[in-house]
Order: sequence, then structure tokens, then C-alpha cells
Amino acid sequence: MANWIKAEVIENRRWNKDLFSLILHADVDPFTAGQFTKLGVEIDGKIIQRAYSFVNPPGAKHLEIYATRVQDGLLSPRLHALESGDSILITKESSGFFTLDEVPQSEHLWLLSTGTAIGPYLSILREEAVWQRFRKVVLVHAVRFSADLSYQAEINELQQKRSDQIIVQPFVSREPTMGALSGRITHALEDGLLERAVGLKLTPEKSQVMLCGNPQMVKDVRALLLEKGLEKNLRKKPGHITTEQYW
Ligand SMILES: Cc1cc2nc3c(=O)[nH]c(=O)nc-3n(C[C@H](O)[C@H](O)[C@H](O)COP(=O)(O)OP(=O)(O)OC[C@H]3O[C@@H](n4cnc5c(N)ncnc54)[C@H](O)[C@@H]3O)c2cc1C
Ligand SMILES: NC(=O)c1ccc[n+]([C@@H]2O[C@H](COP(=O)([O-])OP(=O)(O)OC[C@H]3O[C@@H](n4cnc5c(N)ncnc54)[C@H](OP(=O)(O)O)[C@@H]3O)[C@@H](O)[C@H]2O)c1
Repeated sequence: MANWIKAEVIENRRWNKDLFSLILHADVDPFTAGQFTKLGVEIDGKIIQRAYSFVNPPGAKHLEIYATRVQDGLLSPRLHALESGDSILITKESSGFFTLDEVPQSEHLWLLSTGTAIGPYLSILREEAVWQRFRKVVLVHAVRFSADLSYQAEINELQQKRSDQIIVQPFVSREPTMGALSGRITHALEDGLLERAVGLKLTPEKSQVMLCGNPQMVKDVRALLLEKGLEKNLRKKPGHITTEQYW
């Protein structure tokens, strides 16, 4: 049984029509960067609950959730409508194994995301461990439209602070965008464009890959990486591909 507590909405930062970030205050238990919590709303005596990754690093004053309003979704439109001063339910404990301590040591860490799934990476990247463990970190954020490339200020700040280690590669699939690759991550993996653009090769010897977001992207990219000789990362059999699917 989940242990539900109250979270106060400090701010609802709306990036565009659908994308938003909730800044929350709640007395949750300590969590590990990359983990998720559950948010809930009571409707007709039942708690409607969904999973959301933390964007903030552990220990931050406020919690942060990055989400999209899913048309006809049960919970996300309600979250989207929240204003500062409102409250919602959150679980005291966090969950999940999409964390850096589950990823074996290597030279390069590739963080691939679609849409709101950039969230857990921002949490991981704002802690020191990742910079100590990997020589290069590649952050890939794939979205439909350029207006969906949220968190640019935070990403620019990381690029300035970690200029010798981080490589940021946005993808915008549905309109030409300066500074972003066109189309999908999958196509750019198939024709080698992604590796050429970031200047690194994806190999089992040098790469660890985290995949997060759209489940079909996760499946398709995993299949392409398996062809390159990378393997699923399992606790009982360490490999190179660690995944989290959002639906
Ligand atoms: C481990 C985990 C972590 C998650 N973290 C986040 C997060 O940080 N931010 C977030 O927005 N969502 C996240 N999700 C998805 C979230 O739990 C909900 O499914 C989502 O908010 C939709 O809920 P809903 O009740 O409005 O829609 P539902 O009625 O549950 O409709 C679900 C449908 O919405 C679409 N959908 C769901 N999530 C997304 C998404 N993120 N982007 C695009 N389409 C989506 C899919 O088509 C899915 O079939 C996570 C899910 C999991 C399992
Ligand atoms: N983002 C918006 O402008 C918008 C507008 C209205 C509603 N919404 C809501 O948000 C949801 C969609 O959110 P989203 O745009 O963040 O997520 P998304 O549909 O997962 O798309 C994000 C990115 O992932 C790509 N992608 C999808 N499937 C893939 C696959 N199999 N392999 C590789 N790449 C893949 C998409 O490319 P493609 O473009 O080629 O699919 C897009 O670039 C909808 O369900 C809707 O509720 C969003």
C-alpha cells in the first residue's frame, strides 16, 4: 500500500500548451536521481495515481516534475490545471531502478530521451557522480516541435559548466530546427548520423546507454543497439542498455 502524503504546489511552470513542470513542496523520503514518485488525486473516493520522475536532484529544497497533458488522459489534465497553493497527493517513498548505480562502468554514457523523459537525466546530471564516472556524457532529447525543447536554460548551464564532458544533441521530428537533427533517433542510429553528429561511436567496449520515454522508441533503439553488439543491462547479467518506459 502506498503511503500518501500531501504536496503543496509552489508553482506550475507552463512551457507551452501541453508541457508543464510542477514545483512541489512535500516531506518525501530521500530518493536516488533517476527514480520516480507517484502523484495522485482522489476522485469519487478512489485515488487516481500515475508515476512521475523527479527532475530535481536529491536534497533540493523543492521537488520538480516535468509532464505533458495527455489529451483525454485521466490524471495529467488535472495536474496541468493545478495552480500555486493547490495541493495533491504524493507517495512518501520513491521507486525505480533507472539510476546511475545500476549502470556499469564505461567511458561514455549516452542518455537518450523522448519528450518528458529528459526529466530523470536532468536529476542525474545535477549530481556529481556522473561527472566522476564517465569521460563523456551524451544527452539526446527528441521532441516533435522545437517548442517542446524545454529546460534550455538548465541545459545551457550544464554545457557551460561541463563543456569538456557533455555533448547535447536535440532532435526535432516535425519541423526543421536550427541546431537540432531532423527526424527520429532510430533513423539517425541506422544511418550513423547520430554518431557522426556527436563524434563518438556506440560500441560495447566504450558505451553505456540509458533509454527513457516512448516505449516504442525504447524497443526500437534497443533492437538497433543489440545489432551493434550492446546487451541489455540486467542485475544478474550486466550489459550496456538500461531502460525505462513511460507507458
Ligand atoms: C516509471 C514512469 C515514470 C514516468 N514519468 C513521467 C514523467 O516524468 N512525466 C510524464 O509526463 N509522464 C511520466 N510517466 C507517464 C505518467 O505516469 C502518465 O502515464 C501520464 O501522465 C498520462 O497519464 P493520464 O492519466 O493523463 O493518461 P492515461 O489515461 O494514463 O493515458 C496514457 C496514454 O498517454 C500517453 N502518454 C503517457 N505518458 C506520456 C508522456 N510522458 N509523454 C507522452 N505521452 C504520454 C500514452 O499514449 C499513454 O498510452 C511515467 C510513467 C512511468 C511508468
Ligand atoms: N508535443 C506536442 O506538441 C503535443 C501536442 C498535443 C498533445 N500532446 C500530448 O503529448 C503526447 C505526445 O507527447 P510527445 O510529443 O512528448 O511524445 P512522443 O509522441 O513520444 O514524441 C516524442 C518524440 O519521439 C519520437 N518518437 C515516437 N516514436 C518513436 C519511435 N518508435 N522511435 C523513435 N522515435 C520515436 C517522435 O517522433 P515523431 O514526431 O516522428 O512521432 C518525437 O520526436 C500525446 O499523447 C498528447 O497527449 C503533445
